[in-house]
Amino acid sequence: MKIGIDQISFYTSHYYVDLRTLADARSVEPDKYYLGIGQEKMAIPAPDEDVVTLAASAAYPLKERGELEEVELLLFATESGIDQSKAAGIYVHGLLEMPSRCRAIELKQACYSATAGIQLAIGFVARNPGKKALVIASDIARYELGSPGEATQGCGSVAMVISADPRILTIDAESGYYTEDVMDFWRPNYRSEALVDGKYSTMVYIHALLESWKQYADLSGRSLTDFDRFCYHIPFTKMAEKAHQKLCRKCKVDIDREGMQALLEESLRYSRITGNCYSGSMYVGLASLLDHADEDLAGKRIGFYSYGSGCVGEFFSGVVEPGYRDMLYTDRHINMLENRTELSYQQYEDIFNYGVPTDGGEYVFPQYKTGPFRFSGISQHKREYESLVD
Ligand code: HMG
Repeated sequence: MKIGIDQISFYTSHYYVDLRTLADARSVEPDKYYLGIGQEKMAIPAPDEDVVTLAASAAYPLKERGELEEVELLLFATESGIDQSKAAGIYVHGLLEMPSRCRAIELKQACYSATAGIQLAIGFVARNPGKKALVIASDIARYELGSPGEATQGCGSVAMVISADPRILTIDAESGYYTEDVMDFWRPNYRSEALVDGKYSTMVYIHALLESWKQYADLSGRSLTDFDRFCYHIPFTKMAEKAHQKLCRKCKVDIDREGMQALLEESLRYSRITGNCYSGSMYVGLASLLDHADEDLAGKRIGFYSYGSGCVGEFFSGVVEPGYRDMLYTDRHINMLENRTELSYQQYEDIFNYGVPTDGGEYVFPQYKTGPFRFSGISQHKREYESLVD
């Protein structure tokens, strides 16, 4: 049975900071960001957005098209959780008015957990072929002001339906995966910004890639030249390019600048102007590739490398289905990104320093520009959400 991605929709916040503005504030050459790490803009969530509103906004177009009707499993991948007990996916289930016959849980393993979600969803569909799973990856990447990670911040969410006979991408059975207990990036419960050993994290990312690839290649018998495109986890776009270079070197495959562009460039476009969104980043890359490739990708094999610090890496692959373009939300994605509002440095810092109240008081939050849902206030320690659609 073919199982894989039947729908994919991406959402990010309405606000962004141009990294030239950040470079100016930090007395850094803008090219360090634009060329050195390959990032141009970072998406900043409004004070009335959180991982729930980002996720519900990513999934809403699927609901509008009637694509959530057979969903009986909702897996919410995040490392920006809003509650230690209640799964963020339950709020999304409510906002989207999904049927009560549905399992809903939250998954965590840094940027890797959406991939775990997809693999678990494949098992669910194999057992229940008429049913579907909704996997949502939703995160807000935050590092300390002035830290080396700051320019790689971002936010966003990707909602994917996993089903039998998928209309976008069939996922191959073979997979290479690798876990090792390392401290390259982490966020203790008492902090709202991640801690990271930046240079070390890039080395672990590559080490886990080479280990995952080795297993995948042994299991599948495929070599690097069997792939038409690659989607990497994208903490910053240069990381994906460096990783692919290392993999080519390891596999003794020659690759020049043009070859690299042809394999990766379309997948990096959305991330370059939104930043890292942790668990969703690789799938933002997939949406970007599908939305931007001029060539019809039907029948083409894509290699995926998912990485979550701490760490777990996984290399897997999939084949694009004929007619996939009819399933995409390309116009919606492009329209959303073209109509964002740029923030000044001071506006960015004010939003960054804003903290959700924790005193149990009654709060109604001012309305910013969001998608179809917003985080409207807090009452008796309970988050309140508002739907802006009928
Ligand atoms: P840094 O140390 O400040 O940067 O931050 P740098 O000095 O290494 O410069 C970066 C690049 O810009 C270098 O290129 C410079 O040469 C170049 P490279 O040597 O690497 O090829 N450069 C310039 N280029 C052109 N013109 C200039 C110029 N100046 C410098 N004028 C670092 C870099 C990655 C450490 C930082 O951004 C960071 O800490 N980021 C956060 C951690 C991260 O993203 N790690 C990635 C792997 S771990 C991962 O992906 C998991 C993650 O998503 C979390 C999760 O799983 O949940 C993060």
